[in-house]
Amino acid sequence: MRKLLVMTDLHIRAEGQRIIGLDPGARLAEALAHALARHGDAEALVLCGDLTHAGEPAEYQRLRAVLADCPLPVIPMLGNHDNRDAFRTVFPEAPATPEGHVQDVRDIGETWLITLDTLIGPPFGWTHLGRLGPERLAWLDSALAGARDRQVLVCAHHPPMPTGLPAMDSILLEDGAALVDRLLAHDAPAHLILGHLHRTVSGTMRGLPFTVLKGTCHQGPLELVSDDSTLSVDEPGAYGVVLLGPGQVIVHSEDVLATGSALSGYDMA
Ligand SMILES: [Fe+2]
Repeated sequence: MRKLLVMTDLHIRAEGQRIIGLDPGARLAEALAHALARHGDAEALVLCGDLTHAGEPAEYQRLRAVLADCPLPVIPMLGNHDNRDAFRTVFPEAPATPEGHVQDVRDIGETWLITLDTLIGPPFGWTHLGRLGPERLAWLDSALAGARDRQVLVCAHHPPMPTGLPAMDSILLEDGAALVDRLLAHDAPAHLILGHLHRTVSGTMRGLPFTVLKGTCHQGPLELVSDDSTLSVDEPGAYGVVLLGPGQVIVHSEDVLATGSALSGYDMA
């Protein structure tokens, strides 16, 4: 099977700055080392948005430094904590549409990988909501046409439909129905991989299967009442390992644990 690594919600801050006491840059470095030691045969590393915490150039520069020794092709995407202009200044080689949206298509054998940019950003103001809008949706239509009858794996930062977390449901993808409509209309199976929630969540949206992955730094609590989207917990960072084959999209979530290499068997009773 073909293999991809997916990391999301890196929330990189400048040197010395932390989130709930955690250093996002150090957490990303730990996640990268953990993943590359076990999955160095992956074909690419997809970064599913919220690359930085505040969209500052210094944060993107630190991200670039942490990624400098990564031997895999990196496919970046943007989320609500990003700034498109600052990102493109520090990562000028990143694929983008003619309008500047950070979106890409990759041929992974039987699978067409489509990565989307759901950041609203200037000139539409700054908000934690996500939106694709007509230009990015038209680009998606072309990408899906290019896939022909192949299965598609679509990565986006914002979930297109509610997931039962009130705080996050208030800042989801505004035009998510348009995304789901398109993937349901595709001539082959589609799977969505998402970020934004800082939690592992899976299920179906109108029949469309999706997986949400934890972030590489802080995680979100299972909070089914509060409307505070900043609530965070110091749980291990995590990443996804995606296995792709004919008719198969398998998504594993791996926590970055210091004791992760200490494996023990047990006696069969
Ligand atoms: Fe995030």
